[in-house]
Amino acid sequence: MSVATKSVGAALSRVDGRAKVTGQARYAFEEPVEGVAYAAAVTATIAAGEIDAIDAQRALALPGVLAVISHDNAPRLGETDDGELLLFQSDTVHYRGQIVAAVVAETLEAAREAAACVRVDYAARDHDVELTAEHPRLYNPEKVNPSFPADTAHGDAEAALAKADVVVDATYTTAPVHNNAMEPHATLAFWEGDDLTLYDSIQGTYGARRTIAQVFDLDPERVRVIAQHVGGGFGSKGTPRPQSVLAAIAARMVERPVKCALTRQQMFASVGYRTPTIQRVRLGATQDGRLTAIAHDAFEQTSTVREFAEQTCVATRMMYAAPDRLTRHRLVALDVPTPSWMRAPGECPGMFALESAIDELAVACNLDPIELRIRNEPELDPEKGIPFSSRNLVACLREGAERFGWAEREARTDGRWLIGSGVASSVYPVYRSPSKATARFEPDGGYSVEIAATDIGTGARTVLTQIAADALGVDTEHVRLEIGDSDFGQAAIAGGSMGTASWGTAVVRACEALLAQGEGEATVNTADEIKAQSELSRHAFGAQFVEVRVDADSGEVRPNRILGMFAVGRVINPKTARSQFIGGMTQGLGMALQEESVMDRGFGDYLNHDLAQYHVPVNADIEDIVAAWIDEDDGELNPMGSKGIGEIGIVGTAAAVANAVFHATGKRVRELPIRLDRVLA
Ligand code: MOS
Repeated sequence: MSVATKSVGAALSRVDGRAKVTGQARYAFEEPVEGVAYAAAVTATIAAGEIDAIDAQRALALPGVLAVISHDNAPRLGETDDGELLLFQSDTVHYRGQIVAAVVAETLEAAREAAACVRVDYAARDHDVELTAEHPRLYNPEKVNPSFPADTAHGDAEAALAKADVVVDATYTTAPVHNNAMEPHATLAFWEGDDLTLYDSIQGTYGARRTIAQVFDLDPERVRVIAQHVGGGFGSKGTPRPQSVLAAIAARMVERPVKCALTRQQMFASVGYRTPTIQRVRLGATQDGRLTAIAHDAFEQTSTVREFAEQTCVATRMMYAAPDRLTRHRLVALDVPTPSWMRAPGECPGMFALESAIDELAVACNLDPIELRIRNEPELDPEKGIPFSSRNLVACLREGAERFGWAEREARTDGRWLIGSGVASSVYPVYRSPSKATARFEPDGGYSVEIAATDIGTGARTVLTQIAADALGVDTEHVRLEIGDSDFGQAAIAGGSMGTASWGTAVVRACEALLAQGEGEATVNTADEIKAQSELSRHAFGAQFVEVRVDADSGEVRPNRILGMFAVGRVINPKTARSQFIGGMTQGLGMALQEESVMDRGFGDYLNHDLAQYHVPVNADIEDIVAAWIDEDDGELNPMGSKGIGEIGIVGTAAAVANAVFHATGKRVRELPIRLDRVLA
């Protein structure tokens, strides 16, 4: 065996790239299985009320139809805290688009046709689908996701605001936005006795196994979840969605394997979305731009099925050094689908408001917005009073400014285009969660490594191969990595930007144990190592710089240039990392300019249920986008020295765009998306 090169840090192409581009890589719905049947969902056409009657006769009479499932005949399910998974357990309709029945048939076409023939009669009641900051049923949730206090207060922010030299008091709103992964949510389910196997489009097989076991009242050992390839998730596949349960119910009822894929239109009700927010931010400062007070109030929605309380103000608690701080979250349960995880849930909309307000404060103090941020850089984590493992926000701002040409920025015109630039900070917490890995000597002289990681398109399979190769001291071609199977044991989900850090730690420790042992196989769980880590504030930081041009006549906003500068510890693979950063910033640009799920108050639902009407950025919308990073050496993270990179790219992007629009036009748009009418207003 040749001497191993250092793999971590190399721009290795995806190890599964060839399989993907040649169609060999199988996604859940593509798994071949004998005797498979197909399930199609029937969804509610009222936003609130009860099902009076379900008439399945016409559907059942169609050729190839095996069953119609509804609360009339579905099995009773166990208990779970995600009410969205308890399909067919009652006649209550909580929102338009809720799955109220399903058809199982020999073919997908027959299932779809029959689903359209199931007749459901409803007793509708008035629905309430509109979030307002004055809603009479707003309440104070016990905690916000995952377990932060809903409210925090340090000192007396109200008093500090009352006597501040300069005050910014502004309200920002963000539209509901829907996750739209390329691969719609899909599941293949089959039972062997009481053993249930799911091939699922999911971000974490091990966590899904536990949830599915609860729903079917099974010992988790009886459930296996497999996800070899997943076509994106952005959080919407962080937990099982209704189609996972539907496929399993259907498979049990018809005693055959069943595949169920949501349609793109159904995804707008069934897989979660980012809650709309109304956020009031108040900043108090001295004339020279030193913050004396920060107050951040967020109003958000959840459903009547499940409480989902997004942690909108959490980043504000640790971002800047203001002595007096106040953050509060208020929630209202509406007759809508339950919001869920979407790339940087909390940080992303929260930092839009905070970083817009910081820009407003810089204007009010007549200070450069980068200088203002530097003046408010804290020594310690303001929330916890403990040191940061590393905090290189200032380095990102300075290095980014240098590369972007910030010092030379000026608002100018080019024909009817108004041109300007903006900047915003980003932050994302660094988490790790216990994971188990097994490493093994193979008879051919190579190694195999198993871990229930998931590659949702990020390159996880590739970077874990690099990490294992370095830990074993061999080239990557001598490592065979197996992922995506709950049978491999406990593992973090591909979410919270913690996948690589969590799985990588386990892979390194298993490889070290194997080498120490010298033969056979070694299994390691990182639970103790993670529990023993020192108490530090761990976050990734970044700064986005955007130059826009705004059409003075139409209000159209186009991004001329976007630069993201990040501090994320050690970058394990520059090629896949760049792709994550650019993807995050592109999604942030969508949130800033295009993405908006439009609620129709009368109809009680979001109107734009497809990619013709729900707009995401395409290649033509992106002109010049660059991701770069500083060298950051942080020995307090994990054996790789890495921070997560999946989410930080989106945080800050929308604020940088809005700040650039202000610089170009003098118009402060505080509502996302920055539509033409809002620019012209
Ligand atoms: Mo991500 S929203 O943590 O899957």
